Amino acid sequence: MSAVCIEFKPGLEGIPATQSSISYVDGQQGILEYRGTNIEELAKKSSFLETAYLLIWGNLPSKEELDSFQEDIRYHRRIKYRIRDMMKCFPETGHPMDALQASAAALGLFYSRRALDNPEYIRFAVVRLLAKIPTMVAAFQLMRKGNDPVQPRDDLDYAANFLYMLNEKEPDPLAAKVFDVCLTLHAEHTINASTFSAMVTASTLTDPYAVIASAVGTLAGPLHGGANEDVITMLSEIGSVENVRPYLEKCLETKAKIMGFGHRVYKVKDPRAIILQEIAVELFEKFGYDKYYEIALEMEKAVEEKLGHRGIYPNVDFYSGLVYRKLGIPSDLFTPVFAIARVAGWLAHWKEQLAANRIFRPTQIYTGEHNVYYTPIQER
Ligand code: ACO
Repeated sequence: MSAVCIEFKPGLEGIPATQSSISYVDGQQGILEYRGTNIEELAKKSSFLETAYLLIWGNLPSKEELDSFQEDIRYHRRIKYRIRDMMKCFPETGHPMDALQASAAALGLFYSRRALDNPEYIRFAVVRLLAKIPTMVAAFQLMRKGNDPVQPRDDLDYAANFLYMLNEKEPDPLAAKVFDVCLTLHAEHTINASTFSAMVTASTLTDPYAVIASAVGTLAGPLHGGANEDVITMLSEIGSVENVRPYLEKCLETKAKIMGFGHRVYKVKDPRAIILQEIAVELFEKFGYDKYYEIALEMEKAVEEKLGHRGIYPNVDFYSGLVYRKLGIPSDLFTPVFAIARVAGWLAHWKEQLAANRIFRPTQIYTGEHNVYYTPIQER
């Protein structure tokens, strides 16, 4: 047997798998940058679509470029009636992330001409995915309630239009603004599990709809994007501020993970959690407090006391659920909403991967046996 000379790192922790200029995280200082610009600045001054443009094309757009990008996305928001009919056949009890993964993959059936060396093909794949994913998320939500999907409204911008399609009424401007900021905050985050999944799929030169579908499937898990849904379940199980510490003690005794806390990279409070907490408070001031917020605050304090020395602080998922609840988004749509935003980052990595592609083919350390005798079934 050959000697093992490669160190195995479970989860590839700390092992560079690519070179990228899309985003940067400093987990010790709590810094996140998209193309070199700090996330706080983008959250305050940019919009989701402008940020998506920045991530995907590498520079901030001129006014004309942004207008044309927004116009293209507005134009492509509708989904084909055959996709709607297909989604109508999905079981209403199915998870919306599964519905989204299947619908994103189905787009590949309708736009199957794969021309990865054609800039127009790339541009329209980007536009279609950004435009249609929110429509598909909202359509599944209405159809599983037995309603017909609402058509996108051309006079509403990206965030407002999604809330309109979801709640069947035009959102308050503050709600639309806050949702747009949420999308910006979730748009990209270096090479996490779903982005890696997107890159591996992209590296085979398959179509971009398959790339996004595979990333959506990866984002769905509770250790990744699915944690925001579990945070609300946890806060509701805790039920009151008094129960926070006994609940935490039990988690620590049983070594259960506390949802919305901890991060592979951040060892301080996630900068996105700081902004999300601020905008949650803004929403509460206008639309009324959420009783879960008091529980969340106490939970943050208690976890910091017990686990802060180990670098376990709130991550992006801890406060996002509270914001989404206030925006009228049901908890099992939190992860699909995360996906709507992250499509921007996945597409940026897809483009970057294509620009210097080599198919991913890591190695493994074999731990099995050799020359094993095949035992006939009668002898087993
Ligand atoms: N609650 C309790 N303990 C924790 C938590 C937590 N949320 N997070 C980490 N720890 C502890 C682990 O038990 C482990 O302890 P040990 O060394 O005694 O075994 C140690 O810290 C390291 O934890 P790992 O899970 O090995 O760290 P990793 O870097 O692999 O995990 C992860 C990061 C998966 C995010 C983890 O913190 C976690 O499971 N958090 C809860 C789920 C969550 O909120 N996920 C969303 C992440 S953000 C995103 O994906 C968008």
